[in-house]
Amino acid sequence: MSESSEKLRQRVLNWLEDNVPIARLDHILRVEQMAIALAQHHDVEPELAAQAGLMHDLAKCFKPKQLLKMAKAEGLALDPVDEAAPHLLHAEVGAIVARDTFGVDNTPVLDAIRNHTLGRPGMSNLSCVVFLADCLEPGRGNTQELNRLRQLSYDSLFAAVDYTCEYSLRRLLENRRLIHPRTILTRNWFLESSRSQSQDLLRSGSTAVV
Ligand SMILES: [Fe+2]
Ligand SMILES: [Fe+2]
Repeated sequence: MSESSEKLRQRVLNWLEDNVPIARLDHILRVEQMAIALAQHHDVEPELAAQAGLMHDLAKCFKPKQLLKMAKAEGLALDPVDEAAPHLLHAEVGAIVARDTFGVDNTPVLDAIRNHTLGRPGMSNLSCVVFLADCLEPGRGNTQELNRLRQLSYDSLFAAVDYTCEYSLRRLLENRRLIHPRTILTRNWFLESSRSQSQDLLRSGSTAVV
């Protein structure tokens, strides 16, 4: 990127002040902080995590019509759930705003913005970090379950994404909200991957003992 990170951050903050309410801005800043902390812990580039965290909700307050219009203009393949609940498109559209308004051309950062709500099977560690920070930042609550997920997000990224998807799915069911099929695909991929990861660890652990 041609502009320094600090200048870009300031430009994004100025834009957010005009385009999202203060409570949303506070959430965004907490996501930025948690994404940086998780990135540092998991050997992900903290500067990229900070950028994606700061820009993940750029389109959060866009009207449903605008979200649909921008997604269609971009040629995105829409699921019927996207059409019924266009709010879910704020992640994809946020990446469009990051690219077109702020000149972000780093694909992993744009993907992390795109993936922050529904995840994606096989998504990068950077995307996992932003996905988890969005769902688990301190402002989301202080229940035992959330605190366990926060701890897990430091212990194992893959297991944390799996359990966080299950947490979100349970909440969607309880509130009788539409479920996007990608949330299920993400959960299945991370369930299987975290299982095989822990089997690998067990195997390497037992080899070490032998
Ligand atoms: Fe969001
Ligand atoms: Fe968010």
